[in-house]
Amino acid sequence: MEIKRVLVTGGTGFIGSETVIKLIEAGYDPVIVDNLSNSKDAVIGRIKTITGVRPTFYKVDCCDEEAFRKVFEKEKFQAVIHFAGLKAVGESVVKPIEYYSNNLESTLVLLKLMKEFDVRNIVFSSSATVYGVPKRVPLVETDPVGSATNPYGETKIMIERILTDTQFAWKDLNVALLRYFNPIGGHPSGLLGEDPNGIPNNLMPYICQVAVGKRDHLRIWGDNYPTPDGTGVRDYIHVLDLAEGHVATLKKLATDPGLVIYNLGTGKGTSVLEMVHAFEKATGVKIPYTIEAARAGDVATNYAATDKAFNELGWKAKYNIIDACRDAYNFQKKNPNGIE
Ligand code: NAD
Ligand code: UD1
Repeated sequence: MEIKRVLVTGGTGFIGSETVIKLIEAGYDPVIVDNLSNSKDAVIGRIKTITGVRPTFYKVDCCDEEAFRKVFEKEKFQAVIHFAGLKAVGESVVKPIEYYSNNLESTLVLLKLMKEFDVRNIVFSSSATVYGVPKRVPLVETDPVGSATNPYGETKIMIERILTDTQFAWKDLNVALLRYFNPIGGHPSGLLGEDPNGIPNNLMPYICQVAVGKRDHLRIWGDNYPTPDGTGVRDYIHVLDLAEGHVATLKKLATDPGLVIYNLGTGKGTSVLEMVHAFEKATGVKIPYTIEAARAGDVATNYAATDKAFNELGWKAKYNIIDACRDAYNFQKKNPNGIE
């Protein structure tokens, strides 16, 4: 079936906004639904500046069935990309009820409306966190789904299950579970990027805030891991590559594949110290750091097997971590207080 009009929930967020740009550039007609709980409506104007197109935007909470139904009544969607959700790991430990209710309810309401309006394609933002502690790397899509160390991760596992069961019962539904590795970077214009609330939990936003003097120094969580330099190894993927992965996935869904699962990563592991050095090389800014005790819940090494995405979607990551460091820093410098 031809896919043109795409509902993008969470489309003003970090990954959603870049994906909306790629969709517009690829000739799709994205419609954004976001409750702005973790993003700003100013993002819409920035998408217009970049693409020349102002995407249709509804400030609606996906858990609000009545308001969300009105959007479905008005627009005629052929597919949904479901980014909306709460994503701060530490916060999810403190606020499990908020995380379970927001992430699960929004998905259940969405699926109910998709069924009601016969919308047969959905791409879901899952995470490498569903693999739990890897028994081996690279992680392959057929590796067992483990248990997460926090409620945020558990919502990803549960939603994968919900979507799998729904697809089993509703054979016309096409579902893509995309397991993102570590998204970083920003739009090269400096107009869009990652803008976390409070003290960043993730490495790249923390480094960026050190680089502009907002934080004193980076604390590296552990240097005793069984990795070449002792610091944790992850698969950092530029958000532009990730966004393109969604366009490739929509093309796949148009072939009626049923349920498909893909890792979206680069296949390359980078240690914390390598990332610090790459950032310094890309930006010329020195990043002071101290070595601290390992962080609870962290794994030593985690990176993706990328063959399946390449073979079935014809997609692979094009950017490297130097590009991503440059683009993340550019956004941070141009938006010292985030998107205003
Ligand atoms: P983000 O917070 O920037 O974007 C999520 C958007 O969803 C925000 O704009 C927020 O306002 C919106 N939202 C939240 N709850 C909503 C609701 N009930 N109704 C409507 N809108 C709602 O996060 P992101 O980094 O762009 O992540 C997008 C998706 O990818 C999330 O589901 C996240 O869990 C997943 N993911 C992110 C990462 C990462 O490192 N960034 C890694 C793996 C998976
Ligand atoms: C974390 C989450 C994961 C989530 C992902 C994307 C944990 C345990 N895991 O993954 O569930 O899907 O973010 O949101 O929180 N590091 C430092 N100093 C810092 C920050 C990070 O040394 O200030 C190190 C970490 O120990 C790790 C690497 O940098 O080795 C990457 O950390 P991070 O960006 O938080 O991502 P993940 O731990 O992979």
